[in-house]
Amino acid sequence: MSVASKYDGIAYVYDLMDWPMEFLFYSRWRKEALLGLKGRVLEVGVGTGKNLEYYPQGCLVTGIDNSERMLEKARKRAEGMNNVTLLLMDAEHLEFPDNTFDYVVTTFVLCSVPDPVKALKEMRRVLKPEGEMVNLEHMRSSNRLLSWYEDLINPLIIAVTGIHVNRKTVENIEIAGFRVKEVKNLLIKDVFRKVRSKP
Ligand SMILES: C[S@@+](CC[C@H](N)C(=O)[O-])C[C@H]1O[C@@H](n2cnc3c(N)ncnc32)[C@H](O)[C@@H]1O
Repeated sequence: MSVASKYDGIAYVYDLMDWPMEFLFYSRWRKEALLGLKGRVLEVGVGTGKNLEYYPQGCLVTGIDNSERMLEKARKRAEGMNNVTLLLMDAEHLEFPDNTFDYVVTTFVLCSVPDPVKALKEMRRVLKPEGEMVNLEHMRSSNRLLSWYEDLINPLIIAVTGIHVNRKTVENIEIAGFRVKEVKNLLIKDVFRKVRSKP
């Protein structure tokens, strides 16, 4: 089953499933990560649109996702927001010209995109040279016990949800050609991190 079909299947309960993490951590992290953004912003894997309320005024936001059902939820959230455009699109094949956006944002997406380096290369391509990428992601820890556990449960989590819990996301960002400027550990040592990078 494709990742898009999996998210189509859980779109109706996604916000409910995510609610405890949203309440305890994500909403605060989202607000902090998006503070200060301005200009043309591309959000890749916009999902049900949970970040939309946190973009500062002055942001012109384009959100893409390849799950139509997740986008339906995002469209409801975006009602009345005239600075938001939502499009069905694959992160690995972004349909924008080079150097289009001032910022690219992903939150909890690079764990489920089938080829994260390919998607990251696309994000780098559409970013302006002076632009910036902001990511909130969970990834493989540098702690040996945590990474052992992540490796252990990864096959089961992939089978059930399509999500990879042991991706080396900071390394993938660098492999895609970005210069990492900031990595902030957020939760469970360095499993959840905020990353800011330049193309
Ligand atoms: C865990 S959800 C996160 C949603 C949202 N960013 C958030 O913070 O709540 C991952 C999202 O990435 C989307 N996604 C996964 N692979 C994708 C791809 N190749 N192209 C576009 N979207 C993708 C999924 O459809 C899903 O909506």
